[in-house]
Amino acid sequence: MCLLVAENLTHIYPNGVEALRRFNLCVQSSERVAIVGPSGCGKSTLLRALAGLLRPTEGHIMFRGERLERPVAEIGFMFQEAALLPWRTVLQNVQLPLEMRALRAQKKTLDPLALLHEVGLAGFEHVRPHTLSGGMAQRVALARALVTAPPLLLLDEPFGALDALTREALTALVDRLATQLGMALVVVTHDIGEAIFLADRVVVSSARPGHPIGEVRVALPRPRSWAMEGEPAFSYLVARVRALLAEGAHAS
Ligand SMILES: Nc1ncnc2c1ncn2[C@@H]1O[C@H](COP(=O)(O)OP(=O)(O)OP(=O)(O)O)[C@@H](O)[C@H]1O
Ligand SMILES: [Mg+2]
Repeated sequence: MCLLVAENLTHIYPNGVEALRRFNLCVQSSERVAIVGPSGCGKSTLLRALAGLLRPTEGHIMFRGERLERPVAEIGFMFQEAALLPWRTVLQNVQLPLEMRALRAQKKTLDPLALLHEVGLAGFEHVRPHTLSGGMAQRVALARALVTAPPLLLLDEPFGALDALTREALTALVDRLATQLGMALVVVTHDIGEAIFLADRVVVSSARPGHPIGEVRVALPRPRSWAMEGEPAFSYLVARVRALLAEGAHAS
């Protein structure tokens, strides 16, 4: 059974822009799915719907067999904008999800201080978000999304504002934690290498209105290392995703 199902999602914004058209997706428990597609094809719209933050115009989302109507504690998310609370320190931002009532009873959460350390923000626990760079704010948002050890984590261009080395370290961290916690992932990214590094399956979306036009299975062993990027198996997968993207661009 799918942990998360998106069934025939269509979304039309009030200004008439059709962002998604009949988007179908099934994510199994512990499965890692990456979604790539051209800018503006509806990826963020899809992820907001999967997080229960946006009600699609048509279609619906099922999470653990129940209709998803609002955000739930079991789905962690990190969006393109870090959206930190400015009046809270870095540590208090990461602790925020743990304060949600539904989670107090849940035992399996991660240590906020250890997570801040892992994302490279040791020493910044007590500063306020306005003193951080864009990339640092994204790392706080990642720690905040991980702190509840959610069974499903949604990431929207999580590492876009980061330098290559930090980005590699953080994707490796997500890979490791996903294995350790049995966490399912849906990650939206422009970066084909990042999609392949993280995913079991890369879903390629058409241009707007977005819908899946193909997918590439990634059977690379885990844990993955960025050294694999230079290997023929990795390059072959990059080429296949690229070809699907090109086909989609050609069709539209
Ligand atoms: N709140 C909104 N109101 C109206 N139109 C919107 C809104 N949000 C997004 N759109 C439009 O919907 C389409 C899809 O936007 P979305 O942000 O989902 O794309 P995306 O694939 O995430 O793009 P990017 O790769 O650039 O992040 C775009 O044409 C965008 O202009
Ligand atoms: Mg987006």
